[in-house]
Amino acid sequence: MKGSFITFEGCEGVGKTTQVERLRDYLARTGQRALFLREPGGTVISEKIREMLLSKENDRMNGKCEALLYSAARAQLLGEVVAPALENGINVVCDRFTDSTFAYQGCARGLGTDFVDELNRLTCGDIVPDVTVFLDLHPKKAFERKGGADKNDRLESQSIEFHEKVYEGYMEVARRYPQRFACVDASGDADTVWNSVIALLRERTSVK
Ligand SMILES: Nc1ncnc2c1ncn2[C@@H]1O[C@H](COP(=O)(O)OP(=O)(O)OP(=O)(O)O)[C@@H](O)[C@H]1O
Ligand SMILES: [Mg+2]
Repeated sequence: MKGSFITFEGCEGVGKTTQVERLRDYLARTGQRALFLREPGGTVISEKIREMLLSKENDRMNGKCEALLYSAARAQLLGEVVAPALENGINVVCDRFTDSTFAYQGCARGLGTDFVDELNRLTCGDIVPDVTVFLDLHPKKAFERKGGADKNDRLESQSIEFHEKVYEGYMEVARRYPQRFACVDASGDADTVWNSVIALLRERTSVK
């Protein structure tokens, strides 16, 4: 049996890493195999591209360049890691994937949804997440909770208007892919959110 491909999405500071770590602990504790990846990254080449994307020195990078770099990192990750793992029945969990490209580059940076749809299709082919856990929390609330944006991260230091556009982008994904894209209320405490996340995954994936 093929492994389940699970992605986590959401605006900055909504608790993606917190929930992904809980899932990692849970699967380890219950003896279930899974591969945990972060985007962009997950291979030597993709991590190098990640550095380029997040560096403050590259603040003149235009949206098209950014989108293509994300896709380049992803193409390497899919070919080298994700596709072989899924074929071997291993579950793959990814912190951000194509929906981030749609929301950030397609919507917030204004590249347009046609460009990003085509780019995602060319990059991923038939590798589509089985379930995407969207941690639903408006960026204003997420930033309050986190105590402000991280000024050293080029993407996080964008204005709140930018992050609102990201959120709107995710809402568009939710309208387009209601089956795959599962919205989880992320406003509760970490335990409450985790209970929703694990219930969803047990129902919709091979996670037990
Ligand atoms: N449900 C929650 N309630 C309150 N605080 C939370 C909750 N989940 C996570 N946090 C805290 O919020 C902060 C951001 O969480 P986390 O790093 O998991 O978010 P993220 O979505 O991965 O952020 P980023 O987009 O920056 O990677 C952390 O300090 C974390 O401890
Ligand atoms: Mg994170």
